[in-house]
Amino acid sequence: MTNVAILGAGGIARKMAETLRLMKARGDGVELYAVGSRDKARAEAFAREEGFQKAYGSYEELLLDNQVELVYIATPHSHHGEQIEQCVRHRKAVLCEKSFTATAAQAERALALAKEKGVLVTEAIWTRYVPMRGMLNDLLASGAIGTPRLLTANLGYTIRDKERIRRPELAGGALLDVGVYVLNFAAMTFGNDVERMESSVRMMDTGVDLQESVTLHYGDGRMAELMATAACNTSRRCWIYGDRGCLEVDNVNNPRRATLYANANDPASVVRVIDAPPQLTGYEYEVLSCLRALKTGALECPEMPHQETLRIMRWMDALRRSWNMKYPFE
Ligand SMILES: NC(=O)c1ccc[n+]([C@@H]2O[C@H](COP(=O)([O-])OP(=O)(O)OC[C@H]3O[C@@H](n4cnc5c(N)ncnc54)[C@H](OP(=O)(O)O)[C@@H]3O)[C@@H](O)[C@H]2O)c1
Repeated sequence: MTNVAILGAGGIARKMAETLRLMKARGDGVELYAVGSRDKARAEAFAREEGFQKAYGSYEELLLDNQVELVYIATPHSHHGEQIEQCVRHRKAVLCEKSFTATAAQAERALALAKEKGVLVTEAIWTRYVPMRGMLNDLLASGAIGTPRLLTANLGYTIRDKERIRRPELAGGALLDVGVYVLNFAAMTFGNDVERMESSVRMMDTGVDLQESVTLHYGDGRMAELMATAACNTSRRCWIYGDRGCLEVDNVNNPRRATLYANANDPASVVRVIDAPPQLTGYEYEVLSCLRALKTGALECPEMPHQETLRIMRWMDALRRSWNMKYPFE
């Protein structure tokens, strides 16, 4: 049984709590052990409502509990780097929400410390861990659409008014919140041989990005056309086009269905529909990967190697640099 603790009693923490309850009921070997919040009353309410054994009114207190084995960090991006380091210093394994940190420099620092101390740290970018990812890659590798040439993916929600999204000191903006998913989708599908990036952006009045389009140009001529926005809900659809067909993926934030067409401009040319296996919430796969790593003593998860976390952070740094966008703490 692995004792899991959650840092930050907010929105996604509730979803993880539900996931852990379902995993526990299924016999996956997780214990809903502790929650830590800056506010003791919030921690207590969360623990009571979600079924955790312990509630702490500070993160430091939670980390001093030697029963805690795995910490899920569910706070704003601005705080991830420092909190990962705190967990590592207390020898707690870490599953940290996306975006892993606010800057690549923070990610480098946190991962170097984890390596030095020999502690498991991984990024909770759930789309990397879901089984559909391997199914899509196998399908593309089998030549189902011929040679892939172009992909397009979008992700957006009407979230511009959330404090965590609006405020630069919380490393807000669309890029780190939703852009990270489309960048990961491109990296998982087309790899990392990116020659150059082009982008355009609209900013919020607070100085963070509201929405952007990004084109990744690959060395062999492939292109990934990506859109991310905090201003509206989008279709979340992805299309991967090849010279002998195309694949539609629904959706980029949790791929549940892929439809293979012989011809992208003939909706009747469906060859095959592939559905993802049933899931608890979809967040269980990242937790299961941590449990496997803890069992074997691995310091990173194969679904999201540290090098990939760093690569995506560097891409996001480069995009922000090209927009002259800096967080106040940089
Ligand atoms: N994987 C997904 O599908 C998914 C979905 C949504 C969000 N996320 C990610 O999860 C993380 C948290 O997102 P969320 O929507 O859950 O955020 P949230 O509800 O706004 O905040 C989560 C927690 O962060 C702490 N916090 C909030 N504002 C803070 C501030 N000004 N200073 C310091 N701490 C603050 C609070 O912890 P206390 O309880 O200690 O006060 C709060 O409960 C982000 O990294 C986000 O990108 C992932």
